[in-house]
Amino acid sequence: MSARILEPPPGACISRHAIITGGSSGIGLATARALAADGTSITLIARGIGNLDAAVKDVAARGIHPGQRVISRQADVSAKNGIERAISSAVTALGPPDLVIMCAGYCRPGRIESLSSEIFEQTNAVNYLGTVHTVLACLPHMYPQRRGHLVLLSSGAGLIGVTGYAAYCPTKFAVRGLAEALRADLKPRGIGVSVVYPPDTDTPQLEFETRFKPPETKAITAAGGLYSPEDVATAILRGIRRNRFAITPGWEMTCLERCASLVRPLLARYFDRIAARVRRA
Ligand SMILES: NC(=O)c1ccc[n+]([C@@H]2O[C@H](COP(=O)([O-])OP(=O)(O)OC[C@H]3O[C@@H](n4cnc5c(N)ncnc54)[C@H](OP(=O)(O)O)[C@@H]3O)[C@@H](O)[C@H]2O)c1
Repeated sequence: MSARILEPPPGACISRHAIITGGSSGIGLATARALAADGTSITLIARGIGNLDAAVKDVAARGIHPGQRVISRQADVSAKNGIERAISSAVTALGPPDLVIMCAGYCRPGRIESLSSEIFEQTNAVNYLGTVHTVLACLPHMYPQRRGHLVLLSSGAGLIGVTGYAAYCPTKFAVRGLAEALRADLKPRGIGVSVVYPPDTDTPQLEFETRFKPPETKAITAAGGLYSPEDVATAILRGIRRNRFAITPGWEMTCLERCASLVRPLLARYFDRIAARVRRA
């Protein structure tokens, strides 16, 4: 665990203390970098200590004030006690969080016959229950402030079912449902909620997924384009500043999020045709 001291942040920064799960890589790391450049003190949470230490150095180097601190806590979000301990230790070090961004995630695509029940359980434990554990561990520290913002990471796969993502889609649908219920629950307590629907983003997770994606899944997801983690991070911070509930980086996700129920039957038929063509080939 490491920390770096910088100068007190100016009043204008987006947050005083942001906790980011999955902050050592990809979208979480890009968001941490952008927040550090905005003057925020940050706690990065992930499992791998090597990547965490490197991320702390990288993020702290972008800080702008001597009072600003960047620290890390090692935890697996799927383990309730571990994430509670990590959050509590982060609060002791940097005070209650006013921004919590939940990027820790796992995706193992494959045709249904290649997906074991263990893959379904692990994906749910990290993506859905990991988000629940983090929210429940942070809220008691946020209630007394009567302010703050929770950011949950869903996916385009949380808006429409896609072949090859049978283990992943339900967890991201669940995160969407959780975000909708939390928004209503937390509004009277002064705490905002956003849910992010990133398109395909060039990160280690996508690289891992690509090794397992069936060709028909690759053909379908290719239509959505490829974004950089920095683009997604910029959209997340813009969404938080504007207090947007749904944060949709890129026009494809914006259209899908706004029109999902209308276009779902058409998209399902379109995806079926792509999948059938690829399987025949
Ligand atoms: N990349 C995409 O195309 C894409 C698209 C839509 C949605 N998303 C979602 O966006 C989020 C971020 O994805 P990403 O692509 O940026 O992934 P990434 O680059 O692979 O980073 C994942 C981060 O989560 C941490 N992590 C993974 N499992 C964890 C666990 N059980 N407990 C604590 N930390 C854990 C990883 O560190 P350790 O492994 O060291 O723990 C790492 O810091 C995920 O929820 C993902 O589902 C991504």
